[in-house]
Amino acid sequence: MTCKRLVELGERAYPIHIGAGMLRELGARCAETESGTRGLIVSDTQVDALYGNAAAESLRAAGFDSARITVPPGEPSKCHEQLLRIYDAALDAGLERSSFIVALGGGVVGDLAGYAAATFLRGVRLIQVPTSLLAMVDSAVGGKTGINLPQGKNLIGAFYQPALVVADTSTLRTLSLREFSAGLAEVVKYGMIADPELIACLEDTSPEALLDDEALLEKIICRSCEIKADVVRRDEREGGVRAILNFGHTFGHAIEQTAGYGRYLHGEAIAMGMVFAARVSERLKDFPPEETERLIRVLQRLHLPVALPDLPWSDLLEAMRRDKKKVDGAVGFVLASAWGAVRYGCRAPESVLESVWRDHGGAGETR
Ligand SMILES: NC(=O)c1ccc[n+]([C@@H]2O[C@H](COP(=O)([O-])OP(=O)(O)OC[C@H]3O[C@@H](n4cnc5c(N)ncnc54)[C@H](O)[C@@H]3O)[C@@H](O)[C@H]2O)c1
Ligand SMILES: [Zn+2]
Repeated sequence: MTCKRLVELGERAYPIHIGAGMLRELGARCAETESGTRGLIVSDTQVDALYGNAAAESLRAAGFDSARITVPPGEPSKCHEQLLRIYDAALDAGLERSSFIVALGGGVVGDLAGYAAATFLRGVRLIQVPTSLLAMVDSAVGGKTGINLPQGKNLIGAFYQPALVVADTSTLRTLSLREFSAGLAEVVKYGMIADPELIACLEDTSPEALLDDEALLEKIICRSCEIKADVVRRDEREGGVRAILNFGHTFGHAIEQTAGYGRYLHGEAIAMGMVFAARVSERLKDFPPEETERLIRVLQRLHLPVALPDLPWSDLLEAMRRDKKKVDGAVGFVLASAWGAVRYGCRAPESVLESVWRDHGGAGETR
């Protein structure tokens, strides 16, 4: 089974193909994008070892000439040194304006290769081939690309939509279970912001069972892409409604920053952030407490952390204050009044945030 969704952005519209074994069709799908004959496959060494040959072979069989470059796995590769290596490889491979760059990997490769595609020769076609769950349901769709600076994450970047997204769900079998679970946190987020039924799908399963249930896995990835695509269609450059995709992220980012990058995976921090946002929603939007309990049960089934982290409140608050989404001097939150009913830009007074923290066992107050 496979499914196809369209991101409707006028002349920048593009298809997302999702299904087991999709990588074999990469060349044929690329041929439909009217790309030139030359491409560069960017991957990390781990993903390249597993899927680089299959990607190259599929392109070759469809008549494309492709070169390959790899970067080390992990967030530090989202840097300008690796970006320059990609430009060098693109020049060596003779890429032209009509050529394309394939981002084969997780969100790190997607953001890095995406930014390279956005900027090389003022833009060559970008083909996203996400291989982590997070990349399939989130980073490969929507056009945000970029790299980090020593001063912070994603400080350099461009909105640059891909010409095509090809997600082979069978690649998820080699992803670590921890990374897979972390990707599921974003699926729960889509359930919260747009579709309670998505949560119902996750309530009776576990990450292990899901990996064995091809149909259900494809269904939740398709639905997640559909929701993201719809939000992006309504607000491509995050001037408004796209901010709802940040549900759980204000507190989640604060956890990531305070704990130091690497202690929690992004999805794990977001799981804790969503529980916190649900509790704040109880206070400010009458979100029913039993629905917060439901959220907690789903996240626990997916092996995601739900308890408040053992971090100093003052540091977390400071990180939230620095967050870009301030509203009238207060911390800006995405809050829910019910499953599927969220609002962005909600003013969350610090006194409320702190009392939620204290009432739910927040520790680590001393500095
Ligand atoms: N552009 C966006 O809209 C957007 C959205 C969310 C996150 N992001 C970015 O995405 C990045 C995180 O992405 P990620 O979680 O995919 O991390 P990642 O790209 O580092 O991948 C995680 C790990 O899994 C490995 N891996 C990936 N696919 C695999 C597979 N099929 N089999 C075996 N191993 C595999 C990778 O080698 C890596 O070690 C962050 O940099 C974040 O800023 C971007
Ligand atoms: Zn996220």
